[in-house]
Amino acid sequence: MCGIIVRAGVGDALGELLTGLENLEYRGYDSAGVALRRSDGEIAVCKREGETEALRSDLDADRLSGAVGIGHTRWSTHGAPSDANAHPHTDGENRVAVVHNGIIRNHETLRAELRDRGHEFTSETDTEVIPHLVADALDAGRDPSAAFRSAVDRLEGSYAIAIVVEDSDEVYATRRGSPLVLGLGETANYLASDVPAFLEFTDRVVYLEDGDVVVVDADGYQISDVAGDPIERPVETVDWNAGDARKGVYNHFMRKEIDEQPVSLRQTVDGRIENGRSVLSEFPPGSLSDVDEVIFVACGTSYHAGMYGCTLLRRRGIPATAVPANEFAHEPMPLSDRTLVIAVTQSGETADTLASLRAAEESPARTLAVTNVVGSTAAREADDALFIRAGPEIGVAATKTFSSQVAAIALLADQLEASGAGRPDRRADPAQSNDRDSHDASADTEGSISELDTLPDLVETVVNDGGAARLATQYSEADSYFFIGRGVGYPVALEGALKFKEITYEHAEGFAAGELKHGPLALVTPATVVVAVFTGRNDDRTLHNIREAQSRGAPVIGIGPDSARAARETVDEYLSYPAVDPDFAGILANVHLQLLAYHAAEIRDRAIDKPRNLAKSVTVE
Ligand code: AGP
Repeated sequence: MCGIIVRAGVGDALGELLTGLENLEYRGYDSAGVALRRSDGEIAVCKREGETEALRSDLDADRLSGAVGIGHTRWSTHGAPSDANAHPHTDGENRVAVVHNGIIRNHETLRAELRDRGHEFTSETDTEVIPHLVADALDAGRDPSAAFRSAVDRLEGSYAIAIVVEDSDEVYATRRGSPLVLGLGETANYLASDVPAFLEFTDRVVYLEDGDVVVVDADGYQISDVAGDPIERPVETVDWNAGDARKGVYNHFMRKEIDEQPVSLRQTVDGRIENGRSVLSEFPPGSLSDVDEVIFVACGTSYHAGMYGCTLLRRRGIPATAVPANEFAHEPMPLSDRTLVIAVTQSGETADTLASLRAAEESPARTLAVTNVVGSTAAREADDALFIRAGPEIGVAATKTFSSQVAAIALLADQLEASGAGRPDRRADPAQSNDRDSHDASADTEGSISELDTLPDLVETVVNDGGAARLATQYSEADSYFFIGRGVGYPVALEGALKFKEITYEHAEGFAAGELKHGPLALVTPATVVVAVFTGRNDDRTLHNIREAQSRGAPVIGIGPDSARAARETVDEYLSYPAVDPDFAGILANVHLQLLAYHAAEIRDRAIDKPRNLAKSVTVE
């Protein structure tokens, strides 16, 4: 986790570093710091426990003047949040300052070795060995670039690192297993953990690869390997704009991103449906026909999108499973060259998901990343990438990316079905491959993919519905919140509970509706709010489950189609959405759940965009 920003240019660096840190706070926010190389050649450091705001209010701008600097916003892994453990870390004589994201696995060995040579440490972090290693190499007579490379050569683990060295206008940086992207501006160059950090200064980027070492100054950059041999990387232009990554009139990014869903969904779908069928340019005709089964690997919200995708695929006759990424990575399943392993990840940098992708890559299976971030590690490491095009998502709670992930997977499901995936019998006769009615499983999905075109307008009506705000207040005193659903409503119930607990800190759990009676019902009391997701498919069964909860005194909020009379009459409160194919009903229901969580968190005055103990991108296993 953690966010790194580097700026090397003309003029003062501090303002842009602080802007970069604020833009990166979604990656971690328990402490923040900057180090600048001053015009007298010395390194000045300021770091504080707390958010960037605490740092900003404590800064001595005169002391911290300089055109070259590094900054860091932290999410603790080694050592509690404190001023001492905040980055940048320096060597004993303040000649080298370092910011680091990731984990140095051999830091204890290195620390012991450095202590034997007289180095003293002031923090509990793994990072602190790095400036001492660089200082040691400088003392041995190496120039800063060679000193940095020799230090990097000693490190084991995953990291993105940037350093400034006294009397040098250059910044030295590297990555292995943690993201780092170079931004090329007019008057300055940048490095950051993620593009939104510098998006308001430039949209020209170079995605660095694992093992790259980069030297950046005001005039340009050179990339090499750790031995110093030059490497070329392409310059790309990102199509996100700076406004997307700003809060604007909103109090919270989460609310802005909920409201953006009609637009982000349209971006996901645009140009990808023709004559009622999905046409993903990433997969030319025939390129998916040898897929017999699909396995989704993902974490958190992305895992729920994968679960949702399983239901869509199975309904199209394609065997599909979703496995939490950390389970898959360390308990691998038998995979064949006809297995498609799909890593679903908004950031493309989640360590658990990357570990599962790498485990799959060691098997004969084919891999695909469904991600929001072009140039992310998952996009580059998987055999193929399908971009969800949701635009930058800053709030820690994933919202618009869930809708776009599900829509992208639905498009993929349609294309897999059309390719005859999962049905070797149909592959033999390509003439059958577009004949949806010839098998029962997909008989009721006729035309459903076209509905993705109208979905953004339907989402708009839910976004504008005030019902969730009212119910969040009405039920604010409950002890627990249970979310239940079936079919595509099941992953949506899990997602509703995740969102609710994540930002309200209240006890919330999601269950398959039919599971309630197998244990959880024992916890249901009049102080338990049950939120039931209806999708227009098998709703009568969910009604039975609701009655079980109601007979224990629990109030029930139903979320379902406008037309579901029985559901509306059974529940205590009802939030409705417009008529839609049941395959996509979960996306609409989920928007109500996002709003319910948002308003419940607002009433409790929670840190909605930066919930405690969490970070947007979890780059440690
Ligand atoms: C959900 O609101 C969380 N932010 C979290 O569960 C997230 O979905 C998970 O960490 C996976 O992240 P990814 O999609 O970037 O891989």
